[in-house]
Amino acid sequence: MKVVRSVAAMSRLAAAWKNCVVLVPTMGALHEGHLSLIDRARRAAGREGTVVVSIFVNPLQFGPKEDLSRYPRPLRRDLALCRERGVDLVFHPDADEMYAPGRSVTVDESLLTGGLCGRSRPGHFSGVCTVVAKLFNLVRPHAAVFGQKDYQQLAIIRRMVRDLNFPLEIIGSETVRESDGLALSSRNVYLTPAERAEAPVIRRALLLAGKRVRAGERDAGILRGVIEKELAAAPLGRVDYAEVVDAETLQPVARVERPTLLAVAAYFGRTRLIDNLVVSLK
Ligand code: PAJ
Repeated sequence: MKVVRSVAAMSRLAAAWKNCVVLVPTMGALHEGHLSLIDRARRAAGREGTVVVSIFVNPLQFGPKEDLSRYPRPLRRDLALCRERGVDLVFHPDADEMYAPGRSVTVDESLLTGGLCGRSRPGHFSGVCTVVAKLFNLVRPHAAVFGQKDYQQLAIIRRMVRDLNFPLEIIGSETVRESDGLALSSRNVYLTPAERAEAPVIRRALLLAGKRVRAGERDAGILRGVIEKELAAAPLGRVDYAEVVDAETLQPVARVERPTLLAVAAYFGRTRLIDNLVVSLK
């Protein structure tokens, strides 16, 4: 496995590749969720293809009061996991290497970014789009894999690729969970034991609302109420948002009539956790 740290070397290597290249962008602190994306990338690339994982804690997507400096960076462990999983190349630049001083161009999405995490984290998705666009240009992949856990991010990246004509396919990959339902996240390590014990309430609340949809409930307000009531049962949790939105446009809906996204963000202590569930009427 190659480890590349310079932008120039990455670009030079990518220009010479002739086989199928699949990219998995990450910020490191890899867990089974990331590893499932790597497996998905290998399936897409084939045995002869090239699987690239980027590990870059992107300063542009962190707000001033967010966890950039304390974000976990277990690099040696991450590299060992990538090697075990059959990754061909890890791209791991530092921030000065990725962002030239005086840079002045960013990529902004203007429809899907307005609600959900975009509302609570101003500038976050601009940082994500900008770094992902740079990674696409540097690695030139035929496909890139993103997790459905970050549903809004996946939807925004799909839009960016469509609207800016990036020549690659975006593959969405299913959320990997702990046995009690909590979605795996690099931020779960921040949780105290008591917070960790309560955090699965997010998944339970989403499943409860999903069950109500299957039983015939269509009113978005009522479904939001179901989610909020369940979340309120966890004293250590503080809801950031509980939303019912169109699964494609991410705009709030009054009724469930098309594929619909139920999405939650909640704080446990200082740790912000997100999860979602797509419901469709069959
Ligand atoms: P990061 O949070 O490291 O996540 C990297 C990828 O792993 C994302 O596509 C995310 O959706 C996926 N992922 C996280 N938890 C998962 C889980 N439990 N199951 C399945 N997939 C999961 O998302 C980012 O980094 C950054 O914003 C990035 C896209 C790398 C741009 O900086």
